[in-house]
Amino acid sequence: MKLIKLDAIDSTNEFLKGLSSKQELQNYTVVTAENQLNGKGQMGSKWESEEGKNLIMSVLIKDFLTDNETFFNLNIVVSLAVIQVLENYAIPELSIKWPNDIMSANKKIGGILIENNIKGNGTITSIVGLGLNINQTQYDNLPRASSLAVICNSSFDKEEILFKIISKMEEFIPFYKENEVSLWNEYKSNLFRVGIPTAFSDENNINFMGIIKGVTDAGKLQIQLEDDSICEYNLKEVQMLY
Ligand code: BTN
Repeated sequence: MKLIKLDAIDSTNEFLKGLSSKQELQNYTVVTAENQLNGKGQMGSKWESEEGKNLIMSVLIKDFLTDNETFFNLNIVVSLAVIQVLENYAIPELSIKWPNDIMSANKKIGGILIENNIKGNGTITSIVGLGLNINQTQYDNLPRASSLAVICNSSFDKEEILFKIISKMEEFIPFYKENEVSLWNEYKSNLFRVGIPTAFSDENNINFMGIIKGVTDAGKLQIQLEDDSICEYNLKEVQMLY
């Protein structure tokens, strides 16, 4: 693994994307930043992080995904790698809020943004961005955000956590095919509010009750509705109200 440590950058995902378009990089090349000035979140949102406190990283994954039908496999690998590492730090009530928010109880402690690039020869290069809230203790105006430090009332070594997460990914990726079923099952069983009646809002802002049942191979969320039918949703089509 090659590690590029930056003091400040607009976005580690953008930096790594730019670098990989200019030169051939090793698989698992990692970029970290102490300060991210224009961090990107899912669906055009911003990722805010206090300087020096949290893990802000992007890692290059080459040739794991083979077609756009299986994009979600990388979500599974990354979110489970983070969850398994945090379990070893005894972070309580860990779960994955679909598709890949890292939760402790009902607080978001981490977010993942995966950007895939299909090359002319059909190979896929992925930039996996992870923001993990570690030692930040103030979350003004973000009532649903928290960090390991707030939850555990102690501070953590963010570089140690980074190395452990990358090692987990390096452990999962080469043997993914052999372990695909068990990893998917583990992902599904770790889903936030799986099997629990929950309020949602659809893309027309209509609220409804449903129960998360699982996730399709293409990564859609399966929700059982009140008439017992199962509906499948993309990220833009549904929001959980909790
Ligand atoms: C989310 O919206 O939950 C995803 C957040 C992803 C944030 C990380 S921080 C490192 C990497 N660089 C970015 O610009 N975004 C990701």
